[in-house]
Amino acid sequence: MKVTVIGAGNVGASCAEYIALNRIASEVVLLDIKENFAEGKAMDLMQTATLNKFNTRIVGVTNDYSKTAQSDVVVVTSGVPRKPGMTREELIGINAGIVKGVCDNVLKHSPNTILIIVSNPMDTMTYLALKETKLPKNRVIGMGGILDSSRFKYYLSVAMGVPASDIHATVIGGHGDTTMIPLTRLATWNGVPVSKFLDDATLKKVAADTMVGGATLTAMLGTSAWYAPGASVAVLVDAILNDQKKIYPCCVYLDGEYGQKDICLGVPVIIGKNGWEKIVDYELNDEEKALFYKSAEAVRNMNKVLSEMKV
Ligand code: LAC
Repeated sequence: MKVTVIGAGNVGASCAEYIALNRIASEVVLLDIKENFAEGKAMDLMQTATLNKFNTRIVGVTNDYSKTAQSDVVVVTSGVPRKPGMTREELIGINAGIVKGVCDNVLKHSPNTILIIVSNPMDTMTYLALKETKLPKNRVIGMGGILDSSRFKYYLSVAMGVPASDIHATVIGGHGDTTMIPLTRLATWNGVPVSKFLDDATLKKVAADTMVGGATLTAMLGTSAWYAPGASVAVLVDAILNDQKKIYPCCVYLDGEYGQKDICLGVPVIIGKNGWEKIVDYELNDEEKALFYKSAEAVRNMNKVLSEMKV
């Protein structure tokens, strides 16, 4: 199984590392526009192979898309990350052109691939990738919800003092500081609602911290986070390549589901060898439906900005 990761920056390189460490694919091609950069990252990672005992072949290339041919999955992390104080949405002008060009090149060499979009603003970039490539909708997946959910589980686990691996919780909606929707009502500690352990004010704080989880790290690190984003992509790639039929919240094209049409937005989907195979209906209550509608409006406005830009 072959995976290409476009962009050998922090997120792309972490993603390649987790794919190798978890033995998810036999080959990872890391591609970057910066001369020798991906080659260097690949060489450094390959020098951990004997230490970490993995057999994945990680290959670095400078803009040579012929080396990405016949990839089963292509992950797009290209573009600039946000700096402290920036929103993901502010990156649209720079990243839209980059993502469009990348998609064209990827498709020339891997017409049957499944595309995972990570570049921000992710929901709009996923919509752009779908329109640009004209791939079947099930083969274009935006990764944001898995990351946001893992941050939600982290904050819940800290508040409750229990292991994050015992927490089940999902974030849907957009991958933006004001558009994501942590579904507190459905969050459990191994089946028991978290509201049995945390009061309302704490639950509200956990949800608020989750929503700005990426921004908090950007302020601390001076650039966007990478370990959790890279690991989130790796589990998604694993679910696809190994046909796991896992339910993950992903940004996918909605055609009436969750009351929305012609938009890519985060909803729970079943992931398998065909990409996202089915949207799962979480039967939102009225309050959650209203938040989802608001989130969709914000993402739709961003898509409109993109369509007026003529990238
Ligand atoms: C984040 C970036 C990857 O949330 O969007 O950290």
